[in-house]
Amino acid sequence: MRRAVCPGSFDPVTNGHLDIVARASQLFDEVVVAVGVNKSKSKARLFTAEERMGMLDEVCSAFGNVTVAGFDGLLTTFCQERGIQAIVKGLRAVSDFDYELQMAQMNSSLTAVETVFIPTSPEYSFLASSLVKEVATFGGDVSSLVPSSVLGRLTERLEERRSEEDR
Ligand code: PNS
Repeated sequence: MRRAVCPGSFDPVTNGHLDIVARASQLFDEVVVAVGVNKSKSKARLFTAEERMGMLDEVCSAFGNVTVAGFDGLLTTFCQERGIQAIVKGLRAVSDFDYELQMAQMNSSLTAVETVFIPTSPEYSFLASSLVKEVATFGGDVSSLVPSSVLGRLTERLEERRSEEDR
């Protein structure tokens, strides 16, 4: 059984993430989308770990071999615990490569896990959750960048944030 993990913060999941998950699901028997639930970073997130996982559950339900899980601590420990042999990462541009290579080498020095890089589809090469949040905060149209269910939650959350700030 070939198992892979697609790790990330997914705050929130974008169409770029989904493209990588879909392609990984063609290459591996099982794919786990693993959401980093690191508590020290939770204040900086727009969505809680439960909300991020809920959105992923919804948008990944179409793939028969993809599940969603949370993880805290080292990704390599998660891989060992679940019998996962490969970490799948999307590469958008050369600028992603230096850091991703360093992480891949560190991870394979910690345990026997390979990192597989999938080049991002050109239409998503500029896409990042942080940019989606920024553009949406200032009223830009992000409807082609995130799944429609995520767009609804994003709009709601940003409205909640705005009314909290106005109080
Ligand atoms: O979506 P992100 O924020 O780029 O995801 C980063 C993530 C969660 C994949 C990365 O920070 C990670 O693997 N964290 C787990 C902690 C860990 O294993 N650190 C050592 C990396 S070499």
